[in-house]
Amino acid sequence: MTLLLTTPGDPAPWLKALKTHMPQRKVHLWGQTDAATLAQIPYALVWRPPADFFDGLAGLKAIFNLGAGVDALLTHPALPANVPIVRIVDGGMAAQMADYALYGVLHVHRHFDTLADQQKRCVWADPGICEPAETRVGILGLGALGLGVIEKLRPFGFPLSGWSRSLRAIEGVQTYAGAESLPAFLATCDVLIVLLPLTDDTRNLLSAERLALLPEGASLINLARGALVDEAALLDRLNSGALRFALLDVFHTEPLPQDHPFWSHSRVILTPHASAATLPGPAIAQIAANIAAFERGEPMVGVVDRARGY
Ligand code: NAP
Ligand code: GLV
Repeated sequence: MTLLLTTPGDPAPWLKALKTHMPQRKVHLWGQTDAATLAQIPYALVWRPPADFFDGLAGLKAIFNLGAGVDALLTHPALPANVPIVRIVDGGMAAQMADYALYGVLHVHRHFDTLADQQKRCVWADPGICEPAETRVGILGLGALGLGVIEKLRPFGFPLSGWSRSLRAIEGVQTYAGAESLPAFLATCDVLIVLLPLTDDTRNLLSAERLALLPEGASLINLARGALVDEAALLDRLNSGALRFALLDVFHTEPLPQDHPFWSHSRVILTPHASAATLPGPAIAQIAANIAAFERGEPMVGVVDRARGY
């Protein structure tokens, strides 16, 4: 059985992982495969496939997304219907995301924003120390990545809360579920970490009205997708000081346009969609296990619910 591959960046590490975890399968690179071969290929491994990627894939049985978010794949104009879509669950990203989130929380908790500003002005002043209880951290999205952040933050003693679609019971974490509980959740977040998928239900979730529900001087860490947040409203609240700080990895338009005010904003640290990357080894091991399960007629891990959008 063969695989068709189109990867984020250089295919070499993916091909190496495929050789390790699925040595018996022949791998074809998209763009270098003839029509007769394409028609026979059962499994496609993709990241943001080009518009004509699915042309001629008449025998496709499953599509494996080489990342966690499927928002781009689900809006592909030629996405085949009735073929399971399977995403990567963790795939090495949870640990990276947790490190990144911890950096952002400590930045706020230990006043590194104030300290950086003081350094620019050669000001020698101790901003003081807060108790962990004074930095309440909320996580929007309690999936593979949100739960990794919670486990990373747990030993620091920050009060933790989380919001998801279905109610989750997580020891030591105040959990909320559903749209009606969102205002109560937001009101408790001194630092809000966003790890939701982008779906019809979550697009623009952090609108101007919802951002205004955060406590005065709260901080935002968006690690998921830019379109979850109203960027103009976020900018307004940063400009006014209603929001203290934003650590942003994702944006409405990527790459972020050169003239975007976030680049030079004194209350923003930004990174180029680099908070976490799928690691080829664990991701391909997961896909190999999923294909084996699929061929035995057993359930796969990470199957996307197209109607839900994640
Ligand atoms: P996941 O395991 O599917 O978890 C998603 C979480 O969001 C679940 O807790 C889910 O609730 C919740 N959720 C979904 N829709 C909701 C809604 N309408 N209301 C409330 N909660 C909702 O996803 P993941 O693997 O943690 O990844 C999360 C996202 O991170 C990805 O979709 C991707 O966009 C982003 N990401 C970004 C990067 C980056 O480099 N910046 C890297 C990887 C991933 P339930 O628990 O009830 O299902
Ligand atoms: C990256 O953004 C991912 O969704 O895996």
